[in-house]
Amino acid sequence: MNLTRRQWIKAGAQLSAASMLPWSLWADQPQVPHINIQARETTASWLAAPTPIWAYNQPKLTLQQGVMQTVRVTNHLPEPTTIHWHGVRVGNAMDGVSGLTQAPIEPGASFDYHIMSPDAGTFWFHSHHNTIEQLARGLYGSLVVTGNNEPRFERDWPLLMDDWSLSRNGRIDPAFANGHNQSHAGRMGNFLTINHQAGPWRGEANAGERVRLRLINTATNRILQLHAAFPGALWLAKDGQPLAIPEPVPEVIILGPGERWDIGWIARDAGQLLEVSGDEPLLVAQVDLNPSDGTEVPAFPDAMALPANPMPHLPAGVNQRVPVTLEGGAMGRLQSAQYQGEPHTFRELARNGQFWAISGQTGMPETPLFRARKGESVEVLLDNRTAFPHTVHWHGHHVWANGRWHDSLTLLRGQQKAVRLIAGNPGKWLIHCHMIDHQATGMMTWFEVV
Ligand code: C2O
Ligand code: CU
Repeated sequence: MNLTRRQWIKAGAQLSAASMLPWSLWADQPQVPHINIQARETTASWLAAPTPIWAYNQPKLTLQQGVMQTVRVTNHLPEPTTIHWHGVRVGNAMDGVSGLTQAPIEPGASFDYHIMSPDAGTFWFHSHHNTIEQLARGLYGSLVVTGNNEPRFERDWPLLMDDWSLSRNGRIDPAFANGHNQSHAGRMGNFLTINHQAGPWRGEANAGERVRLRLINTATNRILQLHAAFPGALWLAKDGQPLAIPEPVPEVIILGPGERWDIGWIARDAGQLLEVSGDEPLLVAQVDLNPSDGTEVPAFPDAMALPANPMPHLPAGVNQRVPVTLEGGAMGRLQSAQYQGEPHTFRELARNGQFWAISGQTGMPETPLFRARKGESVEVLLDNRTAFPHTVHWHGHHVWANGRWHDSLTLLRGQQKAVRLIAGNPGKWLIHCHMIDHQATGMMTWFEVV
């Protein structure tokens, strides 16, 4: 079925490292009970007929900043899996990249992730094995890390926004990998969910309450263009990292796959979140005011700025500069690239299902894009030489760009951007496009911290 963007809008509108931690530190940690996550097959009730999906039994996790937590993941799926803690600065062995940082968890087996987030904020977790299929089937959840000195919000709502490709029978279209989609913007869906429920999402607040909306784009490929009609709302954080000073929310939020925005708002009126990339706006979420019972509205303090996380200091100097080109795709003029250690023409690459390259390499190269010692300051000069936007995701690190931190950064077609990072935990860290169709067809590499 070939649904256009317009139909998508309509369809949506109608349907309703413990091992790395010194023992003394480990022993000092408060005792927190293990979290058990089951990855399993289930069904969603979105349409007349149930939709079989894959999901976690706990799609909403909360951790405490700085506290080591064991998360036991048990795989009840018919194939291997892993979990990646997107944006969390975990130890490398806990990063969940199958084939790079761990062997996948076989069906019936379990794996214990020992994760500690130094940062409070909005993160998410998702499968990082056969991601093109497992993410699109629903294997993701929100990960909220709470801090000690955060301002209080009477309402705190993570909104995981997803774009599903459903066939007419209401099932997930099984054509996950399609060369045409992959060489263009990726497979686009036709059905919007919020927190695995059919949109629009609805919430209620009392007048005067402070509301924190945590916007998370979990779509496999789709960039969301969101209009937040919440009068007076402030942008508080990007990718889990607080803005030093909250900013007014712009007219349109461009939210690439994997990116997060935290928005703070005082509910004095109803508010709406709209997706506006199509011809007609699509209602994503609505917050209604509870009817007043006549009692006076309490005056909560307005201050909503979030305390800074312990991010590394960016020195004036740079230890190394790494030019990084994003190349390939339809209309991309890529002549040739290295694939599995050998040069190939674009035609040969396409025959191998590879359409995209990073700095002349497609797929996972043998050698890292760069190596840095822990604490080194690296400037990466990103150059998107393709005809498509890409959302570049950095594992285990945030990069500084546009005056704030990002673990996922959308570059429009032809855009160049210099970003800075400080090499963090030692290990092998992925860099890839979070449009999974692009990642799966070449736009993926890695760097090493030693
Ligand atoms: Cu959110 Cu490598 O992924
Ligand atoms: Cu991409």
